Amino acid sequence: MTKIAPSILSADFTRLGDDIVSVNSADMLHFDVMDGVFVPNISVGIPVLESVRAMTDMMLDVHLMITRPGRYAERFCKAGADILVFHLEADEPQDILASIDTVRKCGKKVGLALKPGTPASALTPYVDGLDMVLVMTVEPGFGGQSFKADMMDKVREVRKMTESRGLSCDIEVDGGINPKTARICTEAGANVLVAGSDIFKAENRAERILELRGGRV
Ligand code: DX5
Ligand code: ZN
Repeated sequence: MTKIAPSILSADFTRLGDDIVSVNSADMLHFDVMDGVFVPNISVGIPVLESVRAMTDMMLDVHLMITRPGRYAERFCKAGADILVFHLEADEPQDILASIDTVRKCGKKVGLALKPGTPASALTPYVDGLDMVLVMTVEPGFGGQSFKADMMDKVREVRKMTESRGLSCDIEVDGGINPKTARICTEAGANVLVAGSDIFKAENRAERILELRGGRV
C-alpha cells in the first residue's frame, strides 16, 4: 500500500501542533533537517523534534540534509526519530556504514537518500542494510519546487535492485509530489510519498492525503 508522509517544512511553525493534528490520518510525518551547508537552507533540529515527539504518536520520518550526519545520528534517534534518513553524498563511505550501524544500535529504522545527480548504483555497498531508500525528486533544500520526472528511471532501478536481492525496502520520493506526480511515482515503484506544499495548501488535508494515496475522496 502507498504510504503518505506530510512534510512539516510546509507547516505554519507558529501553530505546528495543530498542523500536525490536521494530517494525522497520514502514515508518517516527514521532518526535514537542514544545516545550511549540505543544502542552502536552514530548518529545524533536535529541540523541535523532541517537542513533536511529545505531542504525536505518528511515525516520525526524519530526513537529515546535513553534512557528516553520523555526528548527530544518535541524538536524533534519542530525540524521537522512528526512521532516520541521511544523504549518501554527505559523508565518506566508511562513515556512512558507521552511521547506519549507529542507527541500528539505537533500535531505529535507517534509510539513505540520493540527490538527483547521484545514480542508483551508488547504493550498492549499503542497500542490504537499509529499511528505506529516498529518491529525491527535486534538489534538496526547499519546498514548493517542480517535480523532476527524469528521476523515475532511478526509482525503477532502485526497485529492481531491492527486489532482486529479496529486500523489503521502502522506496520514498520527496519533492513536487501532487496527485498527478504521485501516480507517476507509484507506477515507477515508489511506495512512500512525501508531500509538503500540496498537503498543507489543500483545503481539506485529510481528503488530499486519501487522494495522494490513490483512494477515493
Ligand atoms: C526538500 C524537502 C522536502 C520538501 C518537499 O528539500 O526534503 O521534504 O518539504 O516539499 P514539496 O512537497 O512542497 O515539494
Ligand atoms: Zn524531505
